[in-house]
Order: sequence, then C-alpha cells, then structure tokens
Amino acid sequence: MWAALDNGLYIPNLCATREAVTPFASCRLCFVEIEGRPTPVTACTEPASDGMIIKLNTDKVKRLRNTAFELLLSHHHLDCAACAKNKKCGLQETAAHLGLKLKSKRFRRIPRNLPVDSSHTLFIYDPNKCILCGKCVWACENQGSGVLEFAFRGIDTIVSTFSSIPLTEAGCTACLACVGVCPVGALVAKPGVGPIFIPRAGI
Ligand code: FES
Repeated sequence: MWAALDNGLYIPNLCATREAVTPFASCRLCFVEIEGRPTPVTACTEPASDGMIIKLNTDKVKRLRNTAFELLLSHHHLDCAACAKNKKCGLQETAAHLGLKLKSKRFRRIPRNLPVDSSHTLFIYDPNKCILCGKCVWACENQGSGVLEFAFRGIDTIVSTFSSIPLTEAGCTACLACVGVCPVGALVAKPGVGPIFIPRAGI
C-alpha cells in the first residue's frame, strides 16, 4: 500500500500506520486484487514484491471496500456540520475519492450513546465517532503512555482508558499524539489549542 501511495496511486485507508510493525487492518478499505491470486487482499498487510501487478478498482474490490465503508458509517455518529473535523475528516475524504455517500441506505444504523470525555483541558474524546482504526492506541503506546486501549469485544468494542476512567485521571501526558493521528472527529483539540504535534511523519 505504501509503495502505491508513494507513487501516486490512491488506495483508501483509514487504519494504516506506516511505522507500525504489524498492520492493524481494521478498516478493510484497502482491498486490491493481485494478479495470480484468487481473492482480493488488504494492501496494508501485503508486502510489495518485484513484478507484482495490482488492480485497484475491479468489481470485487469495489464491492468489498464499499461494504466496509458503509459498515464503518453504520457505527459512526454522523454529525458533520457540528463536527470539529468537518472538511478534514478521513471518512469525508474517502467518500469524495470513491464517489460514495456518507449516508448509507443499505445498512441499519447502530448508534452508540457513550459518554463523551471532556475532562482533559486540551482535547475531547467522543467514542461515538470512533471508527476503531487503532491509530490513537498505537500513537499513545508509541509515546510511552499506553493510556488508550481497546476494551470489550465485537460490536461493543471501544477505545478507552483502563476501567474507562476519565483521561485526566488515566495518566495522559497531554502529548496530543492521539489527536494528531485520529482520522475522524473522535479525538479533537479543544478550541484555542494550537497546532497538533504529530509524533512521526507518515501516520
Ligand atoms: S488500511 Fe488496510 S485495512 Fe485499513
């Protein structure tokens, strides 16, 4: 995937972190077909090799990634007009690239009504907008904090602190790396907070 992106070929992706040793592969948007392989694969988990021929927009690929996109949206609190990430959101960018709509009619929406954590002086965490990409978990760990983790399983999975305690009590060091990598409006800086420090390029 990185080889394609570095060479101007667009492959949608919302969960990939270039520096992560193991791709998290949760968003399922990056499907491609590789010549000689029977089924599409996720590009973020597939090392590039000499002579590899990839197809980015076959019918199978479109079907898989469109479904993945709609599933992400079925669980995302869609609130674009009031969202701090409006016009800078990975979901909006992906929809624009792929010609998809943000309001899916195919799948029933499964709204979450989880408490929003505004306890921190610098940022807000709204788990109802989280797409479980795992970038914040990786960034927090990479900064040596490890405050954010996945909790629960299946449809109930969320990113949370240990025992869901407020971020201020969880040992957050306020590096804002999580805010810098969040592709949607789940982790956003409070008004007036300056440019977000992004820990390393490419994530
Ligand atoms: S970028 Fe490959 S699964 Fe998300």
